[in-house]
Amino acid sequence: MQPPVLVGPLVLLLGVARALDPALEEGWRDWKSFHAKEYPEEVEAFRRAVWEKNRRRIEHHNLEESLGKHSYRLEMNHFGDLTDEEFNQQLNRFLADNLKQHDGKSALFQQWAARETAREVDWRAKGYVTPVKNQGHCGSCWAFSATGALEGLVFKKTGKLVSLSEQNLMDCSRKLGNSGCHGGYITRAFQYVRDNGGINSELSYPYLERDEFNCHYNPQDKAANCTSLMVIQQGNETALEQAVAMVGPVSVAVDASSFHFHFYKSGVFTNSQCSHRVNHAMLAVGYGTSQENGKNTAYWLLKNSWSEQWGEKGYIRLVKGVDNHCGVANQASYPTW
Ligand SMILES: *[C@@H]1O[C@H](CO)[C@@H](O)[C@H](O)[C@H]1NC(C)=O
Ligand SMILES: *[C@@H]1O[C@H](CO)[C@@H](O)[C@H](O)[C@H]1NC(C)=O
Repeated sequence: MQPPVLVGPLVLLLGVARALDPALEEGWRDWKSFHAKEYPEEVEAFRRAVWEKNRRRIEHHNLEESLGKHSYRLEMNHFGDLTDEEFNQQLNRFLADNLKQHDGKSALFQQWAARETAREVDWRAKGYVTPVKNQGHCGSCWAFSATGALEGLVFKKTGKLVSLSEQNLMDCSRKLGNSGCHGGYITRAFQYVRDNGGINSELSYPYLERDEFNCHYNPQDKAANCTSLMVIQQGNETALEQAVAMVGPVSVAVDASSFHFHFYKSGVFTNSQCSHRVNHAMLAVGYGTSQENGKNTAYWLLKNSWSEQWGEKGYIRLVKGVDNHCGVANQASYPTW
């Protein structure tokens, strides 16, 4: 085996290829200032080259979209200076749990085969969903997905919408196998809240966007309970639909590793490269059908934690009922109390 080689920015720059385009000077400066980006001189050329490459790919996709080849558009965003590899390393850190092998205290969601579900569901309109958050440069998607489902549960139980603490989950669930910014399991976040007997609010235990190794949970600031967790039959979108329709927001995970997902702006997302190997946790808050060009397309409405700048004000519509697209029903679960 070769010893690992340290790769400097110059070598990386060669990997991105192409000389910088002088016509993009102003666009680059505007983008940097809009997103408050600053770079040391020795890495700026590399970041600019990455940004230019992303920009070209986005333009190319949108041109194809305008010709009717795609059902969604892309847009440059605050991730524009990251390569696909960097993005997936830093942000997509969901770990898929073995849902069949729990500690005996989780249960399979029981289907109501006879019951009809609503044609459209949007829990935001009913007050179950907090504003879109931002995980920043930290692989804590699993914690955001879990707080989202717990926030829905609190609202259902109490009629109060309270933002819950991701940092609480990150700092305090390490013993269960979660690793803060370096990834974690949604189900084990619920297990932590259950075993701990509660979780703190965002206000009393704010998000730091970094790994902390001490747990600061304060029982006096308890803002939610979890007595058990339910898992959805793996890969079954019908069961997921029933759970979303009857329970409320449900935690899910998807394969979010494609460039297209990183720069998604609007429309119904579908991508032939999307696999069933899920790596990013999100929150299913509803589903519906979009009518475009005389065509009906069913979609899942998923809340992300990449700020409101990404997607449709922080949400994505993902094609629904087509081969469990991006593995959306592979790791679905929700808490109860
Ligand atoms: C959690 O459950 C306990 C016991 O059922 C209850 O007394 C308490 O009020 C609940 N906490 C919250 C935050 O709802
Ligand atoms: C999927 O879930 C539905 C509804 O809950 C159920 O009727 C169906 O049998 C499940 N499919 C499989 C393959 O188990």
